[in-house]
Amino acid sequence: MSQKNDLIFKDNNYRDYTDVKEAVKDHYKKMRTNQTYDYVKRMKKKYLTFDKPMMLWDAMEKLDALVDVSDPDLDLPNVQHLIQSAQAIRKDGREDWMQLVGLIHDLGKVMYLWGSDEDGTSQDEQWGLVGDIFVVGCKFPDTCTYPEFNALNPDMQNPKYNTELGVYQPNCGLDNLHLAWGHDEYLYQVLKNHKDNKIPEAGMVMLRYHSFYPWHTKGSYEHLLSPKDAEYKAIINDFNTYDLYTKCERITPLEEIKDYYLPIAEKYLGKGPIYW
Ligand SMILES: [Fe+2]
Ligand SMILES: [Fe+2]
Repeated sequence: MSQKNDLIFKDNNYRDYTDVKEAVKDHYKKMRTNQTYDYVKRMKKKYLTFDKPMMLWDAMEKLDALVDVSDPDLDLPNVQHLIQSAQAIRKDGREDWMQLVGLIHDLGKVMYLWGSDEDGTSQDEQWGLVGDIFVVGCKFPDTCTYPEFNALNPDMQNPKYNTELGVYQPNCGLDNLHLAWGHDEYLYQVLKNHKDNKIPEAGMVMLRYHSFYPWHTKGSYEHLLSPKDAEYKAIINDFNTYDLYTKCERITPLEEIKDYYLPIAEKYLGKGPIYW
């Protein structure tokens, strides 16, 4: 651990998967095995119903009860990670909407409230909720976390899905791909459907693609990208610093930051409930 200002940070070895808890590895094994093209399409149909009203701050409080099983760096309730990301963005004097995006970027994990073990969207089974994501419907690259699990996915035996292009057209662009199902796509779609949403496009990109490590950090999927995706990558790289390098052990109660962030949330998302 190293001291930086008044916070205690981990030393520089984030996202090191060589000596992690068995639960992290097991999580990725299940995720890679079960996230098929059909599964993702089924989950979109099942969860993108936008019929469950919940206030933003209530959703934040629900994440106080969830620990992300896929994160090798942090064992705190997920809401602490959100607070740390937001506070780092705020400290750097960045735009208020980006501070808000830091605060809510993992909020799609509230899916666990109505999720199931069977779908991998529950407190106990999180393989349809969290973790680095990848494209379904085409060959999984070796840049996935634990690539040795790629072969376990039934799609990788199916000639419809196991080629470089799979079901996609060359250079069709990120927005036309189906990514592994989880909290990123869920929150993006929920807010896209939210009538009071005024978060700028860059913020929506951060919400949607922040877990897509094989693309944004490892450089895979070149053949599927469109020119617009270079802009997306710059946006994500900017955000990723705050998502990854702000993890520390200090606990800040959610209540303590409410007076500052709630008015920003209301500016960009209105005062009414969000439909999940
Ligand atoms: Fe996330
Ligand atoms: Fe995060």
